[in-house]
Parts: sequence; C-alpha cells; structure tokens
Amino acid sequence: MSVENKSVSRSRELKVYIETYGCQMNLADTEVVLSIMNKSGYSPARTLDEADVVLLNTCSVREHAEEKIHQRLHTIRKELSTRPDLVVGVLGCMAERLRTNLVERHKVDVVVGPDEYRKLPQLVDGAFSGTQGIGVRLSRTETYDDIVPFRADGVSAWISVMRGCDKFCTFCIVPFTRGRERSRSLDSILREVEGLVNRGFREVTLLGQNVNSYRDGTNDFADLLSAVADVDSTLRVRFTTSHPRDLSDKLIDAIAGKDNLCKYIHLPVQSGSNRILKAMNRTYTRERYLDLVKRIRERIPEVALSTDIITGFPTETVQNHQDTVSMMEQVCYDGAYMFKYSPREGTPAHKLGDDVPDDVKTERLNEIITLQQKISFDLNQNLIGRIVEVMVDGRSKKSDQQLSGRTDANKTVVFPVGPIKPGDIVKVKISRASAATLFGEGSVASN
Ligand code: SAH
Ligand code: SF4
Ligand code: F3S
Repeated sequence: MSVENKSVSRSRELKVYIETYGCQMNLADTEVVLSIMNKSGYSPARTLDEADVVLLNTCSVREHAEEKIHQRLHTIRKELSTRPDLVVGVLGCMAERLRTNLVERHKVDVVVGPDEYRKLPQLVDGAFSGTQGIGVRLSRTETYDDIVPFRADGVSAWISVMRGCDKFCTFCIVPFTRGRERSRSLDSILREVEGLVNRGFREVTLLGQNVNSYRDGTNDFADLLSAVADVDSTLRVRFTTSHPRDLSDKLIDAIAGKDNLCKYIHLPVQSGSNRILKAMNRTYTRERYLDLVKRIRERIPEVALSTDIITGFPTETVQNHQDTVSMMEQVCYDGAYMFKYSPREGTPAHKLGDDVPDDVKTERLNEIITLQQKISFDLNQNLIGRIVEVMVDGRSKKSDQQLSGRTDANKTVVFPVGPIKPGDIVKVKISRASAATLFGEGSVASN
C-alpha cells in the first residue's frame, strides 16, 4: 500500500500529538505510547498545530464513542487539508476493531491496536515515506512492563497493572479489542511507584479491566495492593475496576487494614435483575452481589461505593428495570455511571437483537439518573458539618478564589484558597453539598 510521500525533513525533531478518548486504560496507554515515540526521537507536541504526527487513542465501548471519533477524523482531514505532510493515526480499541476500514473510510496513515505500540515508531516513519502502517495483532504476553510511561509532573498517576479481559460479558467489546488477560510483574510495578513517589506524586490508581484477576506467581491483587501501599504510607492508593465475582475477602481485609488504601470501591453491577445478569454473563446474582456489599460494609464501614449500570439490555422488561431501581435504592451508591445499551457487532448480545426501543431506554436511563442524583445528594447532606481530609488537586475550574480536591472516598470538595499546594492533604469542614460536590469553609494543614 502506498500513499503520497510526506515531505518532512528529518533534520528537525518531529512532534507527536495524541488525543485520548475512552477509559483510564487509554490514558495510561497514551503515556506508554509517548514514551515509545520519544525513544525514537518524536517529542510531544503541546498543540495539534505544532504536530507532525497526530494520533487518536480511541474507544469502541458504545456506538456513540465511535461516532465521535469518525467525526473527529473527518474534521481533522478537512481542517488540515492544507497540511498534506501531517501523519494521521488511529490507536486503541477502534483501531483493533475496525482495522483497514479506517484506512478506507478516513485515509489514515497508521492504524495500531493496543498490543502493537512498540511497532508505532517504525510504522510512523514508514508513513512519512508513503507506506501505510497497520499493526493490529493481539498478544497473550505484551504488558509494556519495561517501558516507563511518559508523564508530566503532577499529583496523581495512573498505573496499568494488567491488560485485557477474560470475562466476556455478553454486551462488551473489550475482550475483543484488548485480548486476553495478562498481568505485569509485581517488581516492575513497585519500581514504577517508587519512581513516582521520588518525583513527588501523591496518589496512584492501579488500573485494569478486572484488577481482581491480577496474578504474578503466588501474588494476587491483594498482595500487590498492600505492597504498593507499603512503598510510602502517605501515598494515596486507589484501583479500578473490580469485577464483583472476583473481589475476595482477602482484598477487603487488605483495604481495611491500611490507612493509605482509599476506602472507595468501584463495583459495576450492570443490572439488578437476575435474569438480565445471567443473559449478560456477569456470573453473579443480585443476592450474591448484595452479600458482597454487606461484607465490604461490615469490614470497611466508611467505604464509598460506585457502580456502572446499563439500561435497555435486550429483552429487559419493566420489571427487570424496576429490579435495577430497587438495587440502587438498596445499595445506596455514592455514584454511578449509567449507559443506554449499545449493540456491538461480534459480541454475543448482538445476536439477541436490540428490542428495547430507544425512547424506552432513554426514559429508563433518565429515571435512574434522577434517582442516583437524589441518593448522592442525600448522602452528601450527611457530610455537612463534618471535617474531611482532602488532597488538593489545584484551583477550582469555576473560580480562581477556590481550590478543588478529593476526599479519600473520591468526592470532590471545593473550598477557599489557602497557603497550600497541589498534593497537600488538608482538613476541610463541609458547609454545603450538592449531588456532585461538597463545599468547605476553610482548611487547615493535616498531619
Ligand atoms: N471492565 C470494566 C468495564 C469496562 S467498560 C468493568 O467490568 O467494570 C465500562 C462500562 O461500560 C461497563 O461497566 C458497562 O457498564 C458499559 N458498557 C460496556 N459495554 C457496553 C455496551 N455495549 N453498551 C452500553 N454500555 C456498555
Ligand atoms: Fe467488559 Fe465484562 Fe470485561 Fe468489564 S469485565 S471489560 S464489562 S467483558
Ligand atoms: Fe473503550 Fe477500549 Fe477502554 S473500548 S472503555 S477504550 S478498553
């Protein structure tokens, strides 16, 4: 395959600009990609205008996510018609799913899936001399274990600890775009965390599609989490995502046992109906999930729980939807990410059709969004008058006179500016609360 020759002189350093879409795994992968590109002489661009290479790291989880990328590619091609020298590439889950279709539809120069990023510099080099580059093979072993992600200094860092997913929930494209489950070595993760602490990072989030399946020899995820927490007892340690089926009592005890392991668990439920859970291949029942929540709350009374919910899965009845509503009321989640079911070609659920009409999905979605807002609002009202520990992220987006930070339970707190800097932990008295934000009166340094 050959495209027109891109006449860029290699006498100057080439710059790469990456736009990242989708989940935190993609954010973490973008840092790996920047590191790989940097080693081959491509430095990061601050804006698209100064870039020689633009890469979109994409998501396929719902149709809407993909539509956004198609539009973006269309715009990039149109706006940059005056820049025939620009190399345009697609990375991530859409690259894996759509492969050469992307080349045909958008005339992109490179298409590289999540397990082939090591090939990217070579493929981009090739694109400059007119060769289209495709790398979409999935791997059973690639973890990028030896690559130190390219990160700007900051307070919070993402660390990918495992890749892929073997769960095959029937609605989900991820096992097809990310391949089989595999874990990084415990040692390399600890070295990465030490490096981050030395650079001044104050919070890390361990990432995987199902972190509970992490394994390195005899070490499981609870061992990894405890070891990371022991690197620095003042470092805040978080993780996401947990599959309810695999969250062990050992892990619950580990979280309960260490102060710097945040008391916050994202525990996607997807539906409150046993029939739908079975059709989704979630491998737990409503009762088992509720029992898990009970055990978590017994051992970690202050824990915050959040979830993911899908409305309008094929064959979902009014009663099944009501089961989800009652599940939300029973668990009282601190937060929820809620989605309309989107059929994905190639997944088992795709064969079931998409029989819940869109307006019904929307109605059900709106109902649970309203319910969750009320639950979050009520839970947050209980915090008024309480003093909470907040890690400062920076200035609030809405006002220069306010700072913004997060509690251990990952709730956003906005409070007046004081002599404190990002990464500091301060005590803030909560005076007011909405469903999404807590507002504080003042702050004192915490020790
Ligand atoms: N591994 C994570 C989820 C990754 S996808 C986990 O199991 O929690 C994030 C969320 O997107 C899922 O939890 C699910 O709620 C939603 N999702 C996945 N596929 C979807 C689809 N086809 N339609 C609508 N929502 C979907
Ligand atoms: Fe998808 Fe299920 Fe795997 Fe999550 S656990 S990534 S929802 S298949
Ligand atoms: Fe999207 Fe791929 Fe993440 S489909 S949610 S970017 S794993």
